[in-house]
Amino acid sequence: MKGIILAGGKATRLHPVTKSVCKQMLPVYDKPMIYYPLSALLLAGIKEILIISTPQDTPRFRHLLGTGSQLGVSFSYAAQKEPKGIAESFLIGEKFIGKDSVCLVLGDNIFYGDNLLGLLQDAAGIDSGAVVFGYYVKNPQRYGVIAFDRRHKVVSIDEKPAKPKSNYAVCGIYFYDNEVLKIVKKIRPSPRGELEITDVNNAYLKKGKLNVKLLSRGYAWLDAGTPDTLIDASIFIKTVEDRQGLKIGCIEEVAYKMGLIKKDNLKKIASGMVSGYGAYLSKVCADE
Ligand code: TTP
Repeated sequence: MKGIILAGGKATRLHPVTKSVCKQMLPVYDKPMIYYPLSALLLAGIKEILIISTPQDTPRFRHLLGTGSQLGVSFSYAAQKEPKGIAESFLIGEKFIGKDSVCLVLGDNIFYGDNLLGLLQDAAGIDSGAVVFGYYVKNPQRYGVIAFDRRHKVVSIDEKPAKPKSNYAVCGIYFYDNEVLKIVKKIRPSPRGELEITDVNNAYLKKGKLNVKLLSRGYAWLDAGTPDTLIDASIFIKTVEDRQGLKIGCIEEVAYKMGLIKKDNLKKIASGMVSGYGAYLSKVCADE
């Protein structure tokens, strides 16, 4: 399975902060925001990853993340000329995806919880159809919202509905078989001019091939797209990290624990960083 991180967009809800700085580079506590969705892909066992951002920010991501060899994986980069929708990722990434299945994750989404690894690896193991996750939120209006019938069967997903039919929002990580390339070519831009990921999900639903997994309340799904949610996410990460002395979304640690890099590689990365982050990586090496 291939992975795509979509890290472009306008980030208007964070203006003026994001007028000249890319949202997904902003710190969520002690690391750039993109580390969190990237760690989710690594946990899912995905080793070939395409990072899509705006034409001006794509070189900055290349500078931050390089070829991926330091993490034992491979990164490629592509620009989205204009933010024409989340589903445009599959058109931009068509060659990269080739004949594979694909997982798309949004660059401002953070996932945390027990057995996240198992959950993501199960989803990455699909041979056909799609897997998406639903999460109970207080204000579902901002998201794709899942509508259920009386028997709890999913009947539709409604994009940013004024009157949501449930509190379950679709999270920003999606797993698809290769059919997604055909499906995305059939959908048309919505009235707001975007290729909607919700239309892709509804196309799978119509074929009876959308597997919706509801995350229990023990998980945290955060997006960091507004001043409030950005600071909330930072506080959440800081609280858990301080209490345990363990980091969340630490891509080098994940790569090491997943067996993608050796201890010597991790030591080298650690010695190149004088920050607390570097000290943490040294501790991970010493603990083993
Ligand atoms: P949003 O948060 O919906 O949009 P945005 O980031 O442009 O922010 P705002 O609403 O404040 O203007 O996007 C979700 C994620 O998807 C985010 O990481 C940006 C990314 N994205 C793109 O890269 N390209 C796109 O065309 C769209 C719609 C989103």
